[in-house]
Amino acid sequence: DKQAIRRLICSVATQPISTEAKMEAPKEIFLKDYKMPEYYFDKVDLNFSLGEEKTFVSSKIVVYPRIEGVSSPLVLDGHDLKLVTIKVNGEELKKEDYNLDSRHLTLSSPPSGTFTLEIVTEIYPQKNTSLEGLYKSSGNFCTQCEAEGFRKITFYQDRPDIMAKYSVRIEADKSLYPVLLSNGNLIEQGELEGGKHYVLWEDPFKKPCYLFALVAGQLESRDDKFVTRSGREVALRIWTPAQDLPKTVHAMYSLKAAMKWDEDVFGLEYDLDLFNIVAVPDFNMGAMENKSLNIFNSKLVLASPETASDADYAAILGVIGHEYFHNWTGNRVTCRDWFQLSLKEGLTVFRDQEFSSDMGSRPVKRIDDVSRLRNYQFPQDAGPMAHPVRPHSYIKMDNFYTVTVYEKGAEVVRMYKTLLGSQGFRKGMDLYFKRHDGQAVTCEEFFAAMRDANEANFHNFLLWYSQAGTPSVKVTSSFNAEAKTYSLKFSQEVPPTPGQQVKEPMFIPVAVGLLDSNGNDIPLTSLYHDGMLESISASGQPVHTVVLQVKKKEEEFVFSNISERPIPSILRGYSAPIRLESDLTDSDLLFLLAHDSDEFNRWEAGQVLARKIMLNLVADFQQSKPLILDAKFVDGIKSMLCDPSLDKEFIAKAITLPGAGEIMDMMEVADPDAVHAVRSFIRKHLASELKAEFLSTVESNRSTEPYVFNHNNMSRRALKNTALAYLASLDDPEITSLALHEYKSATNMTEQFAAMAAIAQNPGKARDDVLADFYSKWENDYLVVNKWFALQAFSDIPGNVENVKKLLNHPAFDMHNPNKDGSGYRFLGEIVVQLDKINPQVASRMVSAFSRWRRYDATRQAAAKEQLEMIMAANGLSENVFEIASKSLA
Ligand code: ARG
Ligand code: ZN
Repeated sequence: DKQAIRRLICSVATQPISTEAKMEAPKEIFLKDYKMPEYYFDKVDLNFSLGEEKTFVSSKIVVYPRIEGVSSPLVLDGHDLKLVTIKVNGEELKKEDYNLDSRHLTLSSPPSGTFTLEIVTEIYPQKNTSLEGLYKSSGNFCTQCEAEGFRKITFYQDRPDIMAKYSVRIEADKSLYPVLLSNGNLIEQGELEGGKHYVLWEDPFKKPCYLFALVAGQLESRDDKFVTRSGREVALRIWTPAQDLPKTVHAMYSLKAAMKWDEDVFGLEYDLDLFNIVAVPDFNMGAMENKSLNIFNSKLVLASPETASDADYAAILGVIGHEYFHNWTGNRVTCRDWFQLSLKEGLTVFRDQEFSSDMGSRPVKRIDDVSRLRNYQFPQDAGPMAHPVRPHSYIKMDNFYTVTVYEKGAEVVRMYKTLLGSQGFRKGMDLYFKRHDGQAVTCEEFFAAMRDANEANFHNFLLWYSQAGTPSVKVTSSFNAEAKTYSLKFSQEVPPTPGQQVKEPMFIPVAVGLLDSNGNDIPLTSLYHDGMLESISASGQPVHTVVLQVKKKEEEFVFSNISERPIPSILRGYSAPIRLESDLTDSDLLFLLAHDSDEFNRWEAGQVLARKIMLNLVADFQQSKPLILDAKFVDGIKSMLCDPSLDKEFIAKAITLPGAGEIMDMMEVADPDAVHAVRSFIRKHLASELKAEFLSTVESNRSTEPYVFNHNNMSRRALKNTALAYLASLDDPEITSLALHEYKSATNMTEQFAAMAAIAQNPGKARDDVLADFYSKWENDYLVVNKWFALQAFSDIPGNVENVKKLLNHPAFDMHNPNKDGSGYRFLGEIVVQLDKINPQVASRMVSAFSRWRRYDATRQAAAKEQLEMIMAANGLSENVFEIASKSLA
């Protein structure tokens, strides 16, 4: 309850954490309290003197008031900074002219009108383990300023609606830091006394400080160029330590593909003559879109066929695209405040999804994205951390870089496109840039551009930004043979979420097609809705998919001219992020699985059936009944597996069961043991019934050709690996030696790793041996070793927590590097407390694992709650961890 939390806030806040810093109580910040800044910054000149013990940062800022002649206090953010000097219009301020506390530097009465502010601070990047602000990674300096890291570099109005032009001068020892990078263009460089050198960078575009970046160190670059469609030549450079350069080929390919795609699809051209990417081993998130100097977690840049899997190659393509696309959706047009994060992230995730679709298989990409939404975002939206795509409040913004803001946000953007069509969506994008280039704006402004460019009626659509929770939609169908009509009746409900008990009906686009008894799409001509007969096709051309606009709590649509009872294909392409419940029978689902022209829904029909079967078997398991798998389901899987007309990657998806998370999310009380037992029962049953088919799938999909990253080759490997994983569930010595053969003969990481993972499904000597062999092969490549850790950490063999604990003492494990995770309750609790002192952002991400504790059985509940309480009681807890742990207990 609120009382208890307040007491906890107080007790946490009053605990002494160190002699120098007294912690302030965690403060909740609300969207409704947004105020425009009193001052703007015009020009910012930064000067860095990088040192081994300390770094000096000088800033010279041209400040002007929002309202001419009005002078109010100027409040600057600053955290962990040592103030050296502060000057206004060239005059050093005296102690009584400003106020300094642990988070702010306040000038109580600055001059009226424009003035210059000069501040010198001292910082200690080599001690900065939080990986925000300026820090060191493997001996190199680098920065991460989003969301609020710039305040750890210098005193500033650290908020995205302050946009200014920057120049950055950097000086450092030349032998230790031969490469000095920042945003924009290199204007000047030269030698200095004492073995030092300097550079001067200038960024001609206004930007918020979260897009500032600096990198200094021993790096080398892969160089290439891109000629934009208007004929400008852009130099492209990807920076890594020299030995990693050979692994940047795919990243460079991805960057050039992304630049071309944004021109082709959105007419958006790159706007500077240089684009840099730097790969660093220590990075909290995937990557960061700093203007012209993107910084990446090296796992999302470095790849070679021997060390990276197809999934890694695909992730690199997507994230290189994502950060590049931010140049327009994020940098040129940015967010007014952090509540609007989805304005740039939802839109940019949508753009990278579309990019990956166009570069590979659209249906397969859609299947991947929807699975991710269901397995991660749905549980978040149904738990204590549920928040709208645009949150109403936060304690620590870093906690809101979530699957809801990103992935559900991308679904919201996708709905505009579904409703407006490709051309209408493009018109909306064009208007958005025309209106807002160079501005910091809100989600309403994006909405208004889409609406105004299309003169669309978007009644209630904005609720997608403000209401949390996954809407549930029920649909029932009826056919009237005499009237030749077919009716679909929808009813919707949005579940209550923390702080939002009562919800309004949403605007839900539902794409629908109707199949005849041969499995063909029925041409749709008109439908009755709200007592009116509406024509479906404006041009008179037959339409096979219509987007119904469900806006009310209950709503009916009646198709006319339907001469036989159709099988409906509802929510084609997953046209809205909802849970759909229909009255389709098992045989309808099998029919759709065999015939639907919408490939996403074809896959979906199989998943709906699988979820139904799994939930029924879970109930049987809980009542100790024998588990029996429906033969029709086995036949359905078999016909997919053996259909030569289907795309192989699609088959691999279609024969893969829904994830355990997805099934638990659908249960009253999540029962991981039962779900696990059922899932492995079905896998084993399929493997033994279809053993011959799986074996021939493995054999016919081997290849001796060199690795290529393209859809055909990836599809082949995906299907082969899926078949091998099924077979290995049988724990049969013959299969183990087959898998071992695949492991030994593999020429790429995709097949080598899949073979090892297949063997590792079963405890025993074969498992131990192959894990040891793999480690000794790759112990010098930390990105591969991380995969090896992850495979074991996520393994569900009995007694795995003990294994994982041992791994923590493994020489290759390093808590300072965020790419490594753990599992197990107490174990996780202890890690969180230790890690919080080093890196609060990553620690709070780990606490999220406990946040859905109430969904589990009593024993698990107690174990998780105990850990949450232990965490809350820890000394000097960060705001990051405090927010997640306290909300989880509330
Ligand atoms: N804007 C980055 C992206 O491309 C994410 C960076 C967030 N970093 C953080 N520490 N919260 O999605
Ligand atoms: Zn992003």
